Amino acid sequence: MIKPHGSEQLNPLFVQDDAKRAALVKEAEGLPSIVVSSAAAANAVMLGCGYFNPLKGYMNVADAMGVAEGMKTSDGLFWPTPVLNVVKDPAPVKDAKRIALRDPNVDGNPVIAIQDVAAIEEITADQMKLMTEKIYRTTDMEHPGVAAFNTVGRFAISGPIQVLNYSYFEKEFPETFRTAVQIRNEIEKCGWNKVVAFQTRNPMHRAHEELCRMAKDAVNADGILIHMLLGKLKAGDIPADVRDAAIRKMVELYFPPNTVMITGYGFDMLYAGPREAVLHAVFRQNCGCTHLIVGRDHAGVGSYYGGFDAQTIFDDEVPQGALEIEIFKADHTAWSKKLGKVIMMRDAPDHTKEDWVFLSGTKVRAMLSAGEDLPVEFSRPEVAKILMGYYQSAAAKG
Ligand code: ADX
Repeated sequence: MIKPHGSEQLNPLFVQDDAKRAALVKEAEGLPSIVVSSAAAANAVMLGCGYFNPLKGYMNVADAMGVAEGMKTSDGLFWPTPVLNVVKDPAPVKDAKRIALRDPNVDGNPVIAIQDVAAIEEITADQMKLMTEKIYRTTDMEHPGVAAFNTVGRFAISGPIQVLNYSYFEKEFPETFRTAVQIRNEIEKCGWNKVVAFQTRNPMHRAHEELCRMAKDAVNADGILIHMLLGKLKAGDIPADVRDAAIRKMVELYFPPNTVMITGYGFDMLYAGPREAVLHAVFRQNCGCTHLIVGRDHAGVGSYYGGFDAQTIFDDEVPQGALEIEIFKADHTAWSKKLGKVIMMRDAPDHTKEDWVFLSGTKVRAMLSAGEDLPVEFSRPEVAKILMGYYQSAAAKG
């Protein structure tokens, strides 16, 4: 199987041994503690799952700056985005060497991890600006990722962690939330050698479905890993349980059995476009996938990124050999009225705009909220039905 990023073996930071974990939970009760940001808690989940292998904890400012500027930590590890525990006020843990991190996303703020504090550093305004520019390619606070990154505080608590639970993900998504360790094991059990990963934060329409099929055929893969984001999204995006139900229905009806694994990971969306695509590649390699699909405006938002910036970054900025996973670069994909099927636009240079079925996200939302069926060329009817149920009940709730 493909090797994890940066090490021979995957080293998840979740404490597997029950007795050891129970002892740490007990120890945490007596430690100075702090409620961390949702982003920091999500980082703990990803570290706990092995997705962020080989990192051992939260970065210090030098590493975060190195990663932002040149995708490298101080000791030369390739990494695309800072993994930080940033707080507004570190006073509750000042001078402490070992601290408990409390989860902001679970009632009662239980301890999610224990951290050995290497340093508490203030990130300067200039450093924040530079990191924001490099990671998000904009400093516009209207960008949801930029806003999230710049409103959690400026004090970075760095150092290794031991993870004690997976936040709310296991309980809320028992069928779907999986760690990188579990996915590797499952891939091995299936006997798959080549696996194509599909990142998504949306329900899957016809274009998404066909992209998976096209990628699987093109690279001659044994299986597809649908890997959906289960963490926080911007307002207006569809909740994970609704996406999950829609995806499950689509796979059940339209894919042969035992060719698709439906899974999810616990991370908040960064909306960092190209940089997030590289992070996506890192953690799909860690869960044992040989290929990642990167299509149009991958991990993008609004019009902050060019349609294919998330593909070109792999050629222009990711050093050769930094990653083993390969990128399946997909062109804009849509239903061709002339051919009566979904294809990539580059495969039909003779088509004009009128030859395609396009629907913007805004249009889709408007139609579903108004109770109008989506065209079958755009969405499977069974998928559209689930989405309509969601929009109608949202409308009923006002
Ligand atoms: S993302 O933020 O998770 O990337 P989304 O779930 O919409 O958003 O997309 C999942 C993947 O499908 C991404 O690789 C994206 O580029 C790709 N994609 C979505 N729609 C299309 C399309 N019509 N044509 C080509 N690629 C697409």
